Amino acid sequence: MNNGEGEADRTGAYVLGHSGGEIERLKAQARLIDPITRRILNEAGVVPGMRVLDVGSGAGDVAFLAADLVGPDGEVVGVDRASTAVDAARARAGERSLRNVRFLAGDPAEMTFERPFDAVIGRYVLQFQKDPARMLRRLADRARPGGLVVFHELDWGGPSSFPPAPTYDRCRRWGVETLRAHGTETRMGSKLHSTFVEAGLSPPSMRLEAPIGGGEKAADMLRLVSSLIATLLPEIERLGVATGVEIDVDTLFDRMQRESAEGSNVFFGHLQIGAWSRT
Ligand SMILES: C[S@@+](CC[C@H](N)C(=O)[O-])C[C@H]1O[C@@H](n2cnc3c(N)ncnc32)[C@H](O)[C@@H]1O
Repeated sequence: MNNGEGEADRTGAYVLGHSGGEIERLKAQARLIDPITRRILNEAGVVPGMRVLDVGSGAGDVAFLAADLVGPDGEVVGVDRASTAVDAARARAGERSLRNVRFLAGDPAEMTFERPFDAVIGRYVLQFQKDPARMLRRLADRARPGGLVVFHELDWGGPSSFPPAPTYDRCRRWGVETLRAHGTETRMGSKLHSTFVEAGLSPPSMRLEAPIGGGEKAADMLRLVSSLIATLLPEIERLGVATGVEIDVDTLFDRMQRESAEGSNVFFGHLQIGAWSRT
């Protein structure tokens, strides 16, 4: 997969890339997941006036959420190592005329900042790290003493259907096998507790939510799943997890919707797990 960053070693490289389609997928994902992230940040204690570091800011959605929470007296710095993502996030911040958020390119665990942050936050980023505890330890150093560390990660233990919808369940298998082959931690949500402790932080407070729905109400979830499989398709095929013919990505969403309309299935999405503690 070409992720635009010239990473030669595919295994361990960021598997989702930053194509235009992937940036759009991140934005669609945010529409479904942002309310959950907002509840996590609220409960963790992100409040007006704070200076916040958003790690792995992607298309900018978590930074925009944090910018809303910290208000005009606060400040959010979003950092992503992919310059294509940073460009997209900057353009969106410009469209929204946001003055309290800015984006930088780099790995914040390896960067120095002019001042410590009141909160270091991130969504769906630890799962892609070779050593998440090491990264978290370094990131916690970017927070002031007593500052917040808040991460929202997903967990592939969640997606399932009842009664079973075969195409949806197959998507889960394709996703898990492909991500694992790339070194992505598909149980990162459940590992947040041990990762915080290993990073030297106090045992975190945690929150669990998950998307769930059936019939028409499941459409957004199914669309998101099919767009994730579309993003992963070249790697799914390259790794021999499934063939393009078997997946037939152009009809994947419609097939899942048809199964959903025919049955009375309920679809369970990824577990969305938040963890936070203070330095
Ligand atoms: C799945 S996206 C999530 C984006 C955003 N946090 C959201 O939830 O919409 C993960 C992002 O983390 C970035 N990333 C992964 N590892 C990183 C690192 N070590 N430093 C900075 N960015 C990183 C990737 O480039 C990608 O844009």
